[in-house]
Amino acid sequence: MHGTLSNRPAATGFFLTFEGGEGAGKSTQITRLADKLRARGHDVVVTREPGGSPGAEAVRHVLLSGAAEPFGPKMEAILFAAARSDHVEQVIRPAVERGAIVLCDRFFDSTRVYQGVTGELDPAFVQALEDVTVNGIVPDMTLILDVDPQLGLARAVARRGQGVADRFEKETLAIHQRRREAYLAIAEAEPDRCIVIDASGEPEEVETVVTAAVFAALEARAPMPTAASANV
Ligand code: TMP
Repeated sequence: MHGTLSNRPAATGFFLTFEGGEGAGKSTQITRLADKLRARGHDVVVTREPGGSPGAEAVRHVLLSGAAEPFGPKMEAILFAAARSDHVEQVIRPAVERGAIVLCDRFFDSTRVYQGVTGELDPAFVQALEDVTVNGIVPDMTLILDVDPQLGLARAVARRGQGVADRFEKETLAIHQRRREAYLAIAEAEPDRCIVIDASGEPEEVETVVTAAVFAALEARAPMPTAASANV
């Protein structure tokens, strides 16, 4: 399903991605996890997609405003890929190479789900685009925060207040349901990389599960560089 690890350096940090539908609580969990990891002395990079580098942030607005929507999902997929390529080369690869833990809000699974499945693109096209875009940078672990879209969308509405729903959030409940199923299908196909986390509870409950999963994965790896001497 994903690219090779051949371009990945031997001694590396840890690349963790967070995925899920709207209002799953990814950014809250990323902030809390980053604080915990930093308190243990780790070099942590928090980033997001679309965006995360100056070039990718420039493309973010085009995508989320809906400016590219009239040109179809293939155009959007290529723009997400352009943003991702810049983000990988400018931010993620250098951070992983120096031994940092990278926490990324969305990555290639979002393209597989939003453009691939609900945009109904040819899977071979999505895979080919993904391979050239990530160029060997594949997440070590992906946490899929799973929530009923009705609850997730209600949270997203509460969060943005008077603001307008973005190009993807505004779509029908049926489309959001298909996205949820697509994420669960990815998790089933790639159990070594993906963990599904029930994100319907309070942030504290979700945080407990996220922390346990991430700390277990880090402990299972070789010791990582820390700014201080403390280990996770
Ligand atoms: P967010 O910053 O609130 O998560 O918004 C990003 C939106 O962009 C979200 O609706 C998912 C969508 N998206 C895609 O459709 N494809 C992608 O590859 C990525 C990274 C995001």
